[in-house]
Amino acid sequence: MQSPIWHPYAHLKTQTPAPKVSGGQGACFTLETDEQLLDATCSWWCMIHGYGHPRLIQAIRDQAGELCHVMLGGLSHEPADRLARELVRITPAGLNHVFYSDSGSVGMEVAMKMAVQYHRLQGKPHKHRMLALMKAYHGDTAGCMAVCDPEEGMHGLFSGYLPQHHFAPAPTAAFEADKADVDHDLQALRAVLERHHHEIAALLMEPLLQAAGGLNMTSPHYVKGARQLCDEFDVLLIFDEVATGFGRTGKMFAADHAKVTPDIMVLSKGLTGGYLGHAATLAVCRIKGRESQKQRPFVGFSAG
Ligand SMILES: Cc1ncc(COP(=O)(O)O)c(C=O)c1O
Repeated sequence: MQSPIWHPYAHLKTQTPAPKVSGGQGACFTLETDEQLLDATCSWWCMIHGYGHPRLIQAIRDQAGELCHVMLGGLSHEPADRLARELVRITPAGLNHVFYSDSGSVGMEVAMKMAVQYHRLQGKPHKHRMLALMKAYHGDTAGCMAVCDPEEGMHGLFSGYLPQHHFAPAPTAAFEADKADVDHDLQALRAVLERHHHEIAALLMEPLLQAAGGLNMTSPHYVKGARQLCDEFDVLLIFDEVATGFGRTGKMFAADHAKVTPDIMVLSKGLTGGYLGHAATLAVCRIKGRESQKQRPFVGFSAG
């Protein structure tokens, strides 16, 4: 019988039967036919520690034996707390709050909601749109599709259904480019901010490396310049490090190349090395709103 699985990015009418994976070790997985394949995509950038890693497997077994789930609504537990403290320790200084969810896309949705809520708490509810970059990919939920490249991305089909946001040209300067060479890219970003900052809550970017949009690498100077522009225009800066996090660009986070702290940062994929679906959205303290404000910020996503 033909498998009922509908594969991602495949058309039901044309998808061909997929080979079945039966196991994996290190950088390779094995097919039912015993053929060994090198997983050169790292399972869409998830398997950063490889297949069959003994420590990861043991940790999952141990935890499953103790407690499989706890909702974080009004409750906590030690492993969640320990992970949050560790993420605060290793991410750029100032990111002190951690919101958990279950995938890179949902982590990005959380980030966008935090940004909108932040401006609402500041008395600026009109700042509710996002600014994203062409060539961007931020995920496949509706909110994320709306901030992926609207032309070359794969979501054009849904344009009538998605909320409308703003886009700036993708950066073109190379990783090695010096400060002067990123001017052109930053001018393009500035032009969009000058026109629309009054309604922009946040600039979203995959810092340094636009991954799914074509492995478009840019300079740390661009990332630094984007931080300065965000401060100038009262726009939050969100780093989507779902693909770049945990050493994929040579430092622990792409943000570290530019020594920039974003206001919000999203981690997934490498966070569990692909062993579990999990994401973390980190925020700096000011996202809470002014101390005097009684109203508490609330990001309404179930995060068990
Ligand atoms: C940069 C980036 N952001 C977000 C996502 C979405 O993550 P997920 O597939 O876990 O929802 C991806 C997935 O490839 C990604 O590369």
